[in-house]
Amino acid sequence: MTDANERSMAAKKRQVVLSVRDVTVGFGSNIVLDQLNLDVYRGEILGFVGASGTGKSVLMRTVLRLLPRRSGSIEILGTDYDTADEEQRMALDTRLGVLFQHGALFSSLTVKENIQLPMREYLDLPQSLMDELAYLKIEMVGLAPDAADKYPSELSGGMIKRAALARALALDPDLVFLDEPTSGLDPIGAAEFDLLIARLRDTLGLTVYMVTHDLDSLFSVCDRIAVLGGKRVLVEGTLEDMFAFDDPWVQSYFRGKRARSVVRPDQPAAQPEEEVN
Ligand SMILES: Nc1ncnc2c1ncn2[C@@H]1O[C@H](COP(=O)(O)OP(=O)(O)O)[C@@H](O)[C@H]1O
Ligand SMILES: [Mg+2]
Repeated sequence: MTDANERSMAAKKRQVVLSVRDVTVGFGSNIVLDQLNLDVYRGEILGFVGASGTGKSVLMRTVLRLLPRRSGSIEILGTDYDTADEEQRMALDTRLGVLFQHGALFSSLTVKENIQLPMREYLDLPQSLMDELAYLKIEMVGLAPDAADKYPSELSGGMIKRAALARALALDPDLVFLDEPTSGLDPIGAAEFDLLIARLRDTLGLTVYMVTHDLDSLFSVCDRIAVLGGKRVLVEGTLEDMFAFDDPWVQSYFRGKRARSVVRPDQPAAQPEEEVN
């Protein structure tokens, strides 16, 4: 049995840290999510996929209460924000980390200042301690210490993603939400970022909700996958579950041309197609 399989089996027995029930979200007459259900388990990396414009970012923003929903309920880490009091809401906020799809960092602030933003918002710490913590996060995401005083414009795309991840980790969250964290990175940079995420899951016991278009990420680091289609989660489970699921989009996505170059669990890697010059 593969590591991913074992983790997924264990996940079934583990605690649900995010529970989305019958959630409907729309803009005017455009219903984007219709009575959607989803569970995320403690300690897993859940890969969330779906065609462009199907509502992946909308769901993430709804879970984070940045968008209103029309119906349904959402429980995060045992707390239902709707029924929680102010203190419980604050406590919950500090246990979540977020890396948004666009606008990863504030351009007028250094990396260190970006990482310290959530600390300033939620914690009351002396500057020296916040500096120490910022350097710790910088090291944790594999950046050199001298990145601390750089501005985003002085960083490569990969370094910006890492710095944004460091900010998402600023408050030592239990659950992090990443919206297409490897988009715009070259394949090597993306693979390194994936490895980093897997290491954080293993060392910090982090739960990761990762929206991604990256098949390599899905194949290499995700413990489970959920597919958004038809305004709902069409299927959630392991890669094997995806291959077995009888739906045209899911089949073409996981078995299509782009997927062919990736080693799949049920068969050896396909030969690369002949190059056409
Ligand atoms: N703030 C908004 N106002 C109106 N429509 C929106 C808003 N945000 C997203 N949408 C619509 O919701 C749908 C899903 O968008 P999104 O979640 O960004 O897709 P993706 O799956 O690519 O992340 C799209 O049709 C988009 O136009
Ligand atoms: Mg999106």
